[in-house]
Amino acid sequence: MTDPASRRDFLLGAGAAVAASTLPLSMVELAFADPAQNFTFAYISDSHIQHVKGSTFVRNWDRGLIRAVAETNLLRPKPDFVMFGGDLAQLGTKEELDHGAEMLSKLGYKTHMVMGEHDYYLDLGEYWSKLFGDHYYSFDHKGVHFVVLNSILTFDEWTFDRWPSPEQRMLEMAGLDNPNGSPFMVGQTQREWLRKDLANVDKETPLVVFSHSPIQKIYKGWNFWTDDADEVQALLRPFEKTTVIYGHVHQIQYNQIDNISFHAVMATAWPWPYPQSYAQAEQHLPKLTVPMNRADPFFERDATGWQFIDVASGRVAADYNLYNNANRRVVFNAAKGRPEDVTYQAPADRIMPQAHY
Ligand SMILES: [Fe+2]
Ligand SMILES: [Fe+2]
Repeated sequence: MTDPASRRDFLLGAGAAVAASTLPLSMVELAFADPAQNFTFAYISDSHIQHVKGSTFVRNWDRGLIRAVAETNLLRPKPDFVMFGGDLAQLGTKEELDHGAEMLSKLGYKTHMVMGEHDYYLDLGEYWSKLFGDHYYSFDHKGVHFVVLNSILTFDEWTFDRWPSPEQRMLEMAGLDNPNGSPFMVGQTQREWLRKDLANVDKETPLVVFSHSPIQKIYKGWNFWTDDADEVQALLRPFEKTTVIYGHVHQIQYNQIDNISFHAVMATAWPWPYPQSYAQAEQHLPKLTVPMNRADPFFERDATGWQFIDVASGRVAADYNLYNNANRRVVFNAAKGRPEDVTYQAPADRIMPQAHY
């Protein structure tokens, strides 16, 4: 496991190192027993590029993605590829997807895309496919099997009949605190595809699954939830070392369910606070770390961030670099069999949430 401070040296030059402490992106490192097999990839997620009119887009969200792309291009050693975790666009329009794709095209690496609900529900992913390809797929890289799922599908009735227009469907399905709910799911067709895909993979091969919504049931009220998470988990359970990495929640989360480790990544656009109802959600998740308040409107990068993730021996350790707050490190504790925040404080000693003025 590499010291997180030393990893900042991956970035070229002092200026880039300074930028690294303030820019949102994820760096994922997969480390195995054979050092020759070690490799890294970067993870950027939830840019929510939002069209205003004409050639004008919401500046803060643009800046988050542009800077993440620029910094990723400075990483040394170069990452083998980049993952983008979904919600490239805010309302799924051609203008937003084109603008986001143009920014991503500046990446000097192969980029793999994950579908988010904000990308999907205007035209059911049609234009996104023209730009980026399949909605779900798998690939192998240096001994690791990677799977990308589209986890934000829903019932046919919700998709095709319920809303008076595609625009209304987009708004409803993208709502966070939405009394109509938005029951995301991987769905039967894709689960069957996954079952067949995994049938060819050795059970000792490290498996890394990327989804947009978490493949676990965290908090339904905010749709931090995938309806058929249990069925998908059952397909992942036979593998010795499985990690699910997801976007969507715009905050730090980690969990362990049987052999499956879960890690969320942060957004480049804005942070979601931990829901008030996490008092209830604590039944499902380990103790959360420092709560993140809503973004400070005077600090555009408030509580966005980036992280390094190690998968030493197939287990993930995530270094979260938060702005205006203490960095966090979440590491798989082999003795306890689950990820733990190594700097989690006793309640009386806890670092206070960010102060807003
Ligand atoms: Fe998002
Ligand atoms: Fe999302």
